Amino acid sequence: MLIDTFGRVATDLRVSVTDRCNLRCTYCMPEEGLQWLAKPDLLTDDEIVRLITLAVDRLGIDEVRFTGGEPLLRPGLTGIVARVAQLGNRPRMSLTTNGIGLERTAEALRDAGLDRVNVSLDTLRPDVFQTMTRRKRHADVLRGLAAAHAAGLTPVKINVVLMPGRNDDEAPDLLAWAMEHDYELRFIEQMPLDAQHGWHRDGMITADAILTSLRTRFTLTPEGEEQRGAAPAERWIVDGGPHRVGVIASVTRPFCQACDRTRLTADGQIRTCLFATEETDLRAALRSGTPDDELARIWERAMWGKKAGSGLDDPSFLQPDRPMSAIGG
Ligand code: 5AD
Ligand code: SF4
Repeated sequence: MLIDTFGRVATDLRVSVTDRCNLRCTYCMPEEGLQWLAKPDLLTDDEIVRLITLAVDRLGIDEVRFTGGEPLLRPGLTGIVARVAQLGNRPRMSLTTNGIGLERTAEALRDAGLDRVNVSLDTLRPDVFQTMTRRKRHADVLRGLAAAHAAGLTPVKINVVLMPGRNDDEAPDLLAWAMEHDYELRFIEQMPLDAQHGWHRDGMITADAILTSLRTRFTLTPEGEEQRGAAPAERWIVDGGPHRVGVIASVTRPFCQACDRTRLTADGQIRTCLFATEETDLRAALRSGTPDDELARIWERAMWGKKAGSGLDDPSFLQPDRPMSAIGG
């Protein structure tokens, strides 16, 4: 079991399968110059499956989320999902993706055993998409979303990050559009995880501002704490239901005391938190022939040291060295 000194138990494993991406979202990556991990440093498909297997069999993980960079850029992803789906106590599996390539892969991923997807989409306007991601791929994302829905990878969730002067006027339009298409929208406060360290506390759109903007068009009723569990999103019922909208106030109202996550980076490092300043090298242990029992103990020791919180709500907060694309979203 992955328990920490605050009594939290991690049951949700986020696995980054690549640090690469085919977009360059301004809140995540610089236009160019980001150094990718070297191929030999990446875990192989077999290594990823072995670590997930031991996390599920010995450490109580019951939910696995594949992330990146852009996880669909990893050729072996469907095979990894299929192998994890064969485990005796099969975990729930989801994918956090920018949606590009989903049109092609949604059915195969579902057949392999994937349960659902979270797709990042910040705008309904192709020109704003191009400014925010520096790529002309808006239509690909929309087609990917439709394909995921058609394949039954539901509920299809959409993650939105609002940026001042870019898409911060779009919250109500995005919600209306998502409800029409049966997608579940969640807004995420911009976090200081960009490779170029361009985040400013006073340059971010807060959860309160997002809610104020949504309330210009919709009536929002809080869903209630009992339904929330360890989910970081606070959820509101829109116009009496059945649709809901989520807001993840990662900066202004961090939800660290209920965190149930552990992370594995594409190069085999355990992270206790997105904002951890230390990592534990599982890859070196794995490659030097350490048996599963001992790997499990290394993981347990790493999680035991998990800090109380991200420290994001503290003005003296220091950004971690590695950007989100290398940690896994
Ligand atoms: N702050 C908040 N969310 C971010 N994401 C990427 N970078 C940041 C950031 N700095 C989002 C992506 C994706 C999810 C995994 O995290 O848009 O939807
Ligand atoms: Fe790629 Fe996601 Fe980063 Fe955008 S936020 S550049 S889609 S990894």
